[in-house]
Amino acid sequence: MTEILNIQHLNVSPKNDVTRMLVNHASFTLSTGKTTCIVGESGSGKSLTALTIMGLLSKQLQASGHVIFQGQDISKLDDKAMQKVRGAKIGMIFQEPMTSLNPVLTVGYQIGEPLTAHLGLKGTTLKNRISALLQQVGIPPERADSYPDELSGGQRQRVMIAMSIACEPALLIADEPTTALDVTVQAQVLKLLNELKTRMNMAMLFITHDFGVVADIADDVIVMFRGEIVETGTCEQVLHHPQHPYTKALLACVPDAEGLKTLKPIDYAWLKEVAA
Ligand SMILES: Nc1ncnc2c1ncn2[C@@H]1O[C@H](COP(=O)(O)OP(=O)(O)OP(=O)(O)O)[C@@H](O)[C@H]1O
Ligand SMILES: [Mg+2]
Repeated sequence: MTEILNIQHLNVSPKNDVTRMLVNHASFTLSTGKTTCIVGESGSGKSLTALTIMGLLSKQLQASGHVIFQGQDISKLDDKAMQKVRGAKIGMIFQEPMTSLNPVLTVGYQIGEPLTAHLGLKGTTLKNRISALLQQVGIPPERADSYPDELSGGQRQRVMIAMSIACEPALLIADEPTTALDVTVQAQVLKLLNELKTRMNMAMLFITHDFGVVADIADDVIVMFRGEIVETGTCEQVLHHPQHPYTKALLACVPDAEGLKTLKPIDYAWLKEVAA
């Protein structure tokens, strides 16, 4: 098993309030061929962790620590060098496909952009590769000439997936990619991502607050609570033998295996009591 990403002591805080730790000493590793889920409720620092890896943190925030990708600390790269990594070696899928796709460009053009930028593909080679990618994500290749608003939500998310895997990245980061989709489409997209991960032997970092999704796709699980990683382990360990009171609280909100999809707000008073 090859380690592909190693995060060491990652801190994120607002520049104007450096004592406020939005991500607090987070350390973890990802391996090729494995899906690691980050779970935690809203505001726990999941997206900030992903954005820091991608070098896409807001200018109002600052990060420290190490992001070692394929043996190189990419947190120290300048913008130009980071652009070569982003979209080529590390792909990313965001939660809201409509805000990440440009409404005035065809989906084929948008899938082609990273192929031209990173691999220099043009002409027929480019067109063929776009068709193949659309096919790979289950969209008829002739839809390449469609605009994003001519596609369904699920199809748009598949286009985002095609864009993110276009250059065959070694690591794919997916930030709640199925939250905006209905349950059936969500299941199809999860299945697709899982198949692609296996076929392309990628590492996948999958962010969600849905334990049903975790149970479906995770090999490993990272639990975040208020900016800190409070628990890591295999999917089986974390779901069936949780150690940290917060994980127990999260799971206690889930009535049974079937009901894994419904997370309810946490009872903080209780959590404080058990954590004390
Ligand atoms: N630019 C910013 N300036 C100040 N605080 C920010 C900024 N961006 C995010 N935060 C804060 O950082 C914390 C973590 O945010 P983050 O987006 O990582 O949460 P999350 O775990 O992804 O939540 P969700 O499940 O809702 O997406 C939140 O409290 C958020 O308000
Ligand atoms: Mg988020």
